[in-house]
Amino acid sequence: MKITASDRRALSIWRTLVTICATVTLLPFTIFAAYKSLRRRRLKYRLKEKVVLITGASSGLGEALAHAFYRAGCRVVLAARCEDELRRVKNMLLTTHSVSKTDVTHPPVVLPLDLSDLNALPGRVAKVLEIFGHIDILINNGGISYRGNILTTSIDVDIKLMLINYFGQVALTKVLPSMIDRQSGHIVSVSSVQGKIAIPYRSAYTASKHAVQAFSDTLRAEVAAHNINVTLVSPGYIHTKLSVNALTGNGEAYGVMDSATENGSPVEKVAEEILYAVATEKKELTTCSFVAHIAVLLRTLYPELFFWLMKKRAHQH
Ligand SMILES: NC(=O)c1ccc[n+]([C@@H]2O[C@H](COP(=O)([O-])OP(=O)(O)OC[C@H]3O[C@@H](n4cnc5c(N)ncnc54)[C@H](OP(=O)(O)O)[C@@H]3O)[C@@H](O)[C@H]2O)c1
Repeated sequence: MKITASDRRALSIWRTLVTICATVTLLPFTIFAAYKSLRRRRLKYRLKEKVVLITGASSGLGEALAHAFYRAGCRVVLAARCEDELRRVKNMLLTTHSVSKTDVTHPPVVLPLDLSDLNALPGRVAKVLEIFGHIDILINNGGISYRGNILTTSIDVDIKLMLINYFGQVALTKVLPSMIDRQSGHIVSVSSVQGKIAIPYRSAYTASKHAVQAFSDTLRAEVAAHNINVTLVSPGYIHTKLSVNALTGNGEAYGVMDSATENGSPVEKVAEEILYAVATEKKELTTCSFVAHIAVLLRTLYPELFFWLMKKRAHQH
């Protein structure tokens, strides 16, 4: 087929039109994306030199948070029970992130602690205060999950979940006097979407996470006048070993990687979101799937429907 001069002209007009349309549509998105990334970088700079105590830093989300905050120039304190794992994370931080001469940061501090040993926690906090003089940001992230039914679960397991996930956080939050003295500080509590909605066979876990939500909301109101921020984080499923490390009704390890956890959000993504929420002093961060958001809405707006769905879910178990 022969292409005439008028065909060529028409083709060129079409090409110009498509280019103009694409530019007009994409340009605002490109500008917005560039602005967002610039803003994120600037906000991260705000966190430079901050002393950040992260619990549960020996694995999963806590480990990813350690990387995110260390990369942002923070002086991080890594807390959990397993000292060897904490040392592994410390070495990873030191070897993964090259620190420029102008960006010198304090080497990560390893702080072994057991959140269920409430009486020992003030001494652990004192240790950090001895090293740095203050704590800018406390990230209450350490915790365990649970799989079992209420009827056959030992009360010791209920107590253990509450001790680690709730009372441990409360006890550590008693760093407040040092924050109040400085009229500055930030407490981050990692709860869960299951702190907003309770699902079957997770009673001890969801109860402890609901308690964290209530405590954080009260805390936020009480300390606001002292310039202390509280960020409550409610993640959906994250790809970590949470289900593997979960306790069953008799206190043994569950030892199974659930498919929901396996297909959960990448841990680095959630850690970055938390970092951004801290930098922007967000009061609440709920980071989960669309379905989980709908479930939270249902529980509030149509509780009867939510209860019916949960009954179905329990029967399918
Ligand atoms: N993964 C998810 O789908 C998901 C969803 C929503 C919320 N979350 C929350 O995210 C947080 C982190 O969990 P993860 O998903 O990262 O699970 P993970 O990989 O099992 O990490 C749990 C962390 O908590 C620490 N920990 C457990 N018991 C402790 C104790 N008695 N004292 C001190 N530290 C203790 C563990 O360290 P040691 O064993 O060394 O002590 C570990 O570092 C938890 O609060 C969890 O509830 C997770």
